[in-house]
Amino acid sequence: MPRSIIKGIGHYVPDNVVTNKELESMMETTDAWIQERTGIKERRWVEAGSDESPSTMGTAAARKAIADAGLTPDDIDFIIFATLSPDYYFPGPGVMVQEQLGIKEIGALDVRNQCSGFVYSLSVADQFIRSGMYKNILVIGSELHSGGLDKTTRGRGVSVIFGDGAGAVVLQATDDEQRGILSTHLHSEGQHALELALPSPNTKHWVPEIMEANDPNDISYYPVMNGNFVFKHAVTRFQEVIHEALQQNGFAPSDIDMLIPHQANLRISQFIQAKMKLRDDQVYNNIMRYGNTTAASIPIAISEARDEGKIKEGDLVCMAAFGSGFTWASALMRW
Ligand code: UT7
Repeated sequence: MPRSIIKGIGHYVPDNVVTNKELESMMETTDAWIQERTGIKERRWVEAGSDESPSTMGTAAARKAIADAGLTPDDIDFIIFATLSPDYYFPGPGVMVQEQLGIKEIGALDVRNQCSGFVYSLSVADQFIRSGMYKNILVIGSELHSGGLDKTTRGRGVSVIFGDGAGAVVLQATDDEQRGILSTHLHSEGQHALELALPSPNTKHWVPEIMEANDPNDISYYPVMNGNFVFKHAVTRFQEVIHEALQQNGFAPSDIDMLIPHQANLRISQFIQAKMKLRDDQVYNNIMRYGNTTAASIPIAISEARDEGKIKEGDLVCMAAFGSGFTWASALMRW
């Protein structure tokens, strides 16, 4: 049975850097509060009025990943696009990437698993490769949060955290038994669905009704998060799902060469690192520069870690994510 390797990687972030200091002029917050509670120093937000979208950013990352794999767009057999911020409510951005890359009429699938979306997508792609159905699958995580955040003091508990960006990989079939994805682990707990959510518009609260009410106090179309509650679940689930992957393959935390956690909060990553007794060089963090880019955070992080020479062939790499749903997931691979 073939295994899947990451053959190519790329990422794209908008040029526009927004520092914590700049947020101080939009809302009651401080650089000190944001850095102390989250580790974030700056994030990228697309320029207001720009033509950038989750699909265009995803396409930019995908072009780099395809070139990095030594392929052309025509070599791609299937597209999987993970996002919580699609260009349109429907259709999803997977088909837009297919069109923007000028690829023939292959299948395109959209995954809606928020912060865990990239690891879920990787798992789906891995199953297609193991079954022999496809050889080269483009897996993209891309988010454009900035246009939909409440950038006033009312929304500061959420808006200071999220950033825009995209990452992509080409997952490729290999017969090399020494390399590839070893296992993936997917979980969800829907009872907490509204603890981190974008409640509106929804099928009980459609756009015409919202427009008719024209209520300036209706904040249901901004993302909401019960921060403390999410934090407590995150630190538990991250550890569980990493241990699950290690145990299934007969490894211990000390065997990990690189842990790439979803970049939700630097304090969460540091907590997991301490609990699992991992050294600094075993965990990659870049939330300081990009904030939380949800489905894009892991592919951006792997792309940077690889470019910095921190992941090499043969390394044991673990990716893990937790987020809205709640959903959480891990993937363990021999790079
Ligand atoms: O990626 C998906 C998964 N997401 C996560 O895992 C995120 C999990 N949660 C978190 O990362 C943290 O809970 C937050 C960073 C969101 C919040 O940090 P916290 O330490 O849990 O702060 P808090 O919500 O308990 O708020 C503490 C205080 C409050 O003021 P009072 O009630 O103590 O007077 C907030 O109103 O900080 C206030 N606050 C702020 N102050 C300045 C909230 N946001 C801000 C802000 N600037 N941006």
